[in-house]
Amino acid sequence: MCGIVGYIGKQDSKEILLRGLEKLEYRGYDSAGIAVVNENGVQVFKEKGRIATLREAVDEAVIAPVGIGHTRWATHGVPSKVNAHPHQSSSERFTLVHNGVIENYNHLKRDYLDGVSFKSDTDTEIVVQLIEKFVNDGHQIEDAFKETLKLLKGSYAIALLDNQDQNTIYVAKNKSPLLVGLGDDFNVVASDAMAMLQVTNQYVELMDKEIVIVTRESVTIKTLEGRVVERAPYTAELDASDIEKGTYPHYMLKEIDEQPAVLRKIIGNYRNDNGELTVDEEIRQAMVDTDRVYIIAAGTSYHAGLLGKQYIEKIAQIPVEVHISSEFSYNMPLLSGKPLFIFISQSGETADSRAVLVQVKEMGYKALTITNVQGSTLSREADFTLLLHAGPEIAVASTKAYTAQVAVLSILARDAARAKGIEISFDLSKELGIVASAMETLCDDKEEMEKIAREYLSTTRNCFFIGRGIDYYVGMEGALKLKEISYIQAEGFAGGELKHGTIALIEEGTPIIALATQEIVNLGIRGNVKEVVARGANPCIISMKGLNEEDDRYVISADVHELFTPLLSVIPVQLISYYAALHRECDVDKPRNLAKSVTVE
Ligand code: G6P
Repeated sequence: MCGIVGYIGKQDSKEILLRGLEKLEYRGYDSAGIAVVNENGVQVFKEKGRIATLREAVDEAVIAPVGIGHTRWATHGVPSKVNAHPHQSSSERFTLVHNGVIENYNHLKRDYLDGVSFKSDTDTEIVVQLIEKFVNDGHQIEDAFKETLKLLKGSYAIALLDNQDQNTIYVAKNKSPLLVGLGDDFNVVASDAMAMLQVTNQYVELMDKEIVIVTRESVTIKTLEGRVVERAPYTAELDASDIEKGTYPHYMLKEIDEQPAVLRKIIGNYRNDNGELTVDEEIRQAMVDTDRVYIIAAGTSYHAGLLGKQYIEKIAQIPVEVHISSEFSYNMPLLSGKPLFIFISQSGETADSRAVLVQVKEMGYKALTITNVQGSTLSREADFTLLLHAGPEIAVASTKAYTAQVAVLSILARDAARAKGIEISFDLSKELGIVASAMETLCDDKEEMEKIAREYLSTTRNCFFIGRGIDYYVGMEGALKLKEISYIQAEGFAGGELKHGTIALIEEGTPIIALATQEIVNLGIRGNVKEVVARGANPCIISMKGLNEEDDRYVISADVHELFTPLLSVIPVQLISYYAALHRECDVDKPRNLAKSVTVE
């Protein structure tokens, strides 16, 4: 979703800002812009579409050591040049970029900005006009900024320039992520550390409702009441090569291939001196103390949560409910006496999940976040964090974070079982090791996956994934992957449920991808395949060796406990989706309309 960068230093800011925005492209956007200030005042360049288009529009001759930039994912107003950020006040003295949603923008417009004419349809323009209004009323700029922030309801990360001041960027945030990066003779602003890793790995976290005055030489954090806050910087543990594609044509393919290594890294990070996979004592205790776990997540992370439920219930014998975060707040179930909330989020920034976290913390409950991003909002605000150790995931379609989430959930379940004295028939470390090796074999079979994609998905308008038990959950994830990047209408169905309505959509040649990795449901799912084949469907059965039958299209070979087959069967499904998108000439890493980090509710 929207991304912010800013630079104030001695070099020309344009290239630093543009490169920073390119690093934020993965979050999803539909327009972009930069504003720079020099002795001649402010210059704004913005365009609909990609950063490459913006690059062409930027006037090379303008040299300015201060600037801000933005990638916009449209919420209020269509994607267009006019609605792209930065936005300016009527006199063009103030220029601002904003992430988030100002919920009361209409009221503010009516109550404070009568007579002001607006250029865009955005909620953001209200913010910059309010700042100008307060300055016109006699406030100093810092106070005008504070007064404006006090009026805003909703979420924001803001960077503000004053064209009369070449030495300051004003910054603030509420709910939306924003960092300040520190350098020698310069400072930067970024939605995430990746954007400015090119110039620094030293960052200061910002808290909600603070205002930050960033100059070339200093960063001053203040509360809205004016109290100065001291905060030490941290080192972003990111390797610049982690965020490069290397020889891969797409990040998604690179990230699919990284899955065996991620799994091994997880095993390494969670293994104790006795070779057991464990979590921190306080997390273990929270699992032992709870009478019901509530998993809250969105998208792919929700699908990982469904598998987490299986693990926690089957391995640790603790009841679990899994909820979509955007539904939970107003549709809260009756809670048990001692609930434990687990938030699963690759980015750690998903606004829907954060809203639930705020709510359950207010209710006094304990929360654990499972995330890939240390220091992310969901991690900071929960009581405990388990990290995925997957390295930055850049492709919008989540792959390695999903398998990492599933693996970490299995470790959490195993550890809780140990603490509760429950005997387990398998060695988790060994099982995950087998999975990592089998994943490698699957990743090496790309040619076959490419063929399957061509055979089944190059021209179809829709596709169904079916499975029973845990295969159903992988089918849901498969359908999400396929639709996200290839735009084929895809649905994941419980094999037995298809005939209760959806089978009406089966036509001659409709592709059905059926997953058969569980002995207990093998006959059942094969029966369901026969039902759709009788109605003309084109079946592609992906099965486990030992359960396979003659016409199965792809057989996974691994001697692994049945609970962990989802970590394997998801790989063909990811790869088939990838090649289907390639065949259809889709933008695999940056699918239309999607955002990687969804920071609005
Ligand atoms: C967006 C992404 C999905 C992701 C979901 C949850 O919708 O496009 O790929 O699964 O957000 O994100 P999270 O960071 O919370 O896991």
